[in-house]
Amino acid sequence: MGKFLRQSSVLFIVLVLAVPVLAGYRDIASNAIVNQAVVESEIENLCLTCHESAMMDEKRRKIPGEWRASWHFQNDVSCHNCHGGDPQDAALAMSPERGFVGVPKYQRVPAFCGTCHIGILKNYLASGHGRALMENGSGPNCVTCHGAHNIQKATIDIINENRCSQCHSYDRAKEMKHALSRTEQKIEDIEASITRLKAARVFTEEEDKEVFRTLAEFRTLFHVVDVSLVKDKTDDYLKRLGVIDKKLQGIFSELDSRRNFSVFLLLIFVGMAITGYLLSKTYS
Ligand code: HEC
Ligand code: HEC
Ligand code: HEC
Ligand code: HEC
Ligand code: HEC
Repeated sequence: MGKFLRQSSVLFIVLVLAVPVLAGYRDIASNAIVNQAVVESEIENLCLTCHESAMMDEKRRKIPGEWRASWHFQNDVSCHNCHGGDPQDAALAMSPERGFVGVPKYQRVPAFCGTCHIGILKNYLASGHGRALMENGSGPNCVTCHGAHNIQKATIDIINENRCSQCHSYDRAKEMKHALSRTEQKIEDIEASITRLKAARVFTEEEDKEVFRTLAEFRTLFHVVDVSLVKDKTDDYLKRLGVIDKKLQGIFSELDSRRNFSVFLLLIFVGMAITGYLLSKTYS
């Protein structure tokens, strides 16, 4: 009898230990692909060999350093990806036969950047800015807002009074920034929730993708510079983000109730184990 009780109290303890595991959170290891930027071997980049050397005047010699600090550098977009030419052939590096296009004129810059940023070019060309640029050169081009060599990840802080009041009043720009920042805030909140869920080892990949799809669409929106369109779309995005947010909150409360239930089971098993142990003492 005593032996049986001792064995069963061991069994209880094993069960107690197993409860958190059995509670079974969606604990699927996230197979995040480590997206390491592979930076092109600089040894073979002859553009840099000359452009960092004393043959350049001081102002131009700064360009490679600015580029190295840029988001393009981190994503392996090099001199020749924008300017054309051949970084491996000193003699023909800057020849048109090797696709060298040199420095784009002010009005040519959007097409120059738009070979890669196709969707943004389209929005931009249809906008008040794009039309003004094409008609008489009065609109801002990509470089006006992003720079040419030290380009960073874009944020709505690019919209500021200093930059945006050069050609017109800041009023409309401010309204647009306000609409954009409401969506941005919501996206940040959701990203924070996802980070918390990841810390609790809950699988969130689908939610992630949905946020990033929404984010990608949202972030090209600015270039239409159409205040009422941005406002309408902002309402639309906020609605969609609200759905994701609700889903995440649902997961949080499910987690809470599971946690409470595990604690409840734990207490019961501990109680039973102690009872079993005391009984085994009493009857052995
Ligand atoms: C052998 C040295 C050398 C190499 C290699 C070289 N450059 Fe140059 N580059 C120069 C010099 C010198 C100038 C400035 C004098 C001039 O404008 O001709 C220049 C000017 C430029 C300009 C400005 C042109 C203009 O119209 O003002 C660009 C853009 C440029 N280089 C890009 C590149 C790119 C991209 C590569 C690599 C594919 C490259 N360079 C490779 C020496 C070089
Ligand atoms: C993302 C595209 C991009 C990349 C990458 C890039 N450039 Fe440029 N570069 C431009 C643009 C756009 C201009 C015209 C700047 C303007 O309109 O103010 C320019 C201008 C220049 C000029 C002329 C500057 C002047 O003041 O006349 C030189 C020289 C040059 N780039 C060299 C380089 C070199 C060398 C690299 C690599 C280290 C490089 N660029 C990488 C886009 C790029
Ligand atoms: C009047 C200023 C302005 C001009 C002109 C402009 N941009 Fe932007 N761009 C912005 C702002 C502001 C953002 C950030 C928007 C946001 O976060 O909602 C941005 C965002 C971006 C992004 C990031 C979008 C994403 O998907 O994450 C890229 C890429 C970009 N711009 C490229 C360009 C190119 C290429 C051009 C020229 C065809 C251009 N921009 C012209 C202000 C400008
Ligand atoms: C050869 C293709 C190529 C060209 C040309 C190019 N870009 Fe990019 N650009 C990229 C890649 C790749 C990235 C990194 C991926 C990303 O962030 O979207 C990037 C990122 C950016 C970003 C940051 C996007 C973000 O996530 O916030 C901006 C802003 C940008 N580019 C602006 C420009 C501007 C302005 C020009 C012209 C002066 C230009 N690009 C020319 C390929 C290019
Ligand atoms: C180089 C000059 C220049 C700069 C810098 C500039 N804009 Fe503009 N902007 C224009 C021109 C030209 C128009 C078209 C004429 C108009 O509607 O006033 C315009 C129009 C607009 C419009 C109204 C578009 C429409 O069709 O209703 C908005 C909104 C706007 N800009 C926002 C901005 C913001 C935000 C910035 C700063 C990130 C900025 N602008 C920087 C020249 C500029």
